[in-house]
Amino acid sequence: MPAPQAVLFDAYGTLFDVYSVGQLAETLFPGQGPALAALWRDKQIEYTRLVTTSNDGAHYQPFWTLTRAALRFAIKKLAGSEESALAAARFDSKIERLMDAYRRLACFPDAKPLLETLRARGVATGILSNGDPQMLADAVQSSGIGGLLDHVLSVDAVRKYKTHREAYALGEQATGLPAGQILFVSSNSWDALGATWYGYRTLWVNRQRLPFEELGTEPSRIGTSLGDVLAFF
Ligand code: LAC
Repeated sequence: MPAPQAVLFDAYGTLFDVYSVGQLAETLFPGQGPALAALWRDKQIEYTRLVTTSNDGAHYQPFWTLTRAALRFAIKKLAGSEESALAAARFDSKIERLMDAYRRLACFPDAKPLLETLRARGVATGILSNGDPQMLADAVQSSGIGGLLDHVLSVDAVRKYKTHREAYALGEQATGLPAGQILFVSSNSWDALGATWYGYRTLWVNRQRLPFEELGTEPSRIGTSLGDVLAFF
């Protein structure tokens, strides 16, 4: 099979490392950091699906807004809601500290070397993410990979979250290539599955050694780090 002409990456958990946010969650809510980070993430994705599938997307809100809403839910569920004004202020301040950490993420150590290799080979690169344009711009800047990306694509352009086909179609529109000539890379199994169903060639970067989705479709390849992209070339 010919090598892909472009490589598009999911952002959060794939290029950008959210580990630092989990650490801060543990500092702010001792003993509950991992549970909080996991519930926050699950609720965030649940909200993207809720607003995309209800009333044809009429309830769309940007990813930053959904991310904050999901965090508020997760903290209320795990740590309880605050009654007094002082406690409410402390609650809000913890929310803002975690959101601030989410805005300024580092990339995984395997991201830059791979992007440099792809650039040297003349392969187009980009992000295709649920993140809204401002949060993607902030993460690209804080992680220092801006000069290595040809496209930073946000689903905000179509106001529908992955796995809606209009969201994945943004990658074809931006690169001018059919999905079958594009490699889509994600660490999120549901995203790797959605992109495979859409028609992309796909790499699931299984950083956490999880099972893949049990829905009868497999990604083109499964790897453990971003460097496994090079197996397609
Ligand atoms: C994204 C989330 C799903 O960047 O990781 O789209």
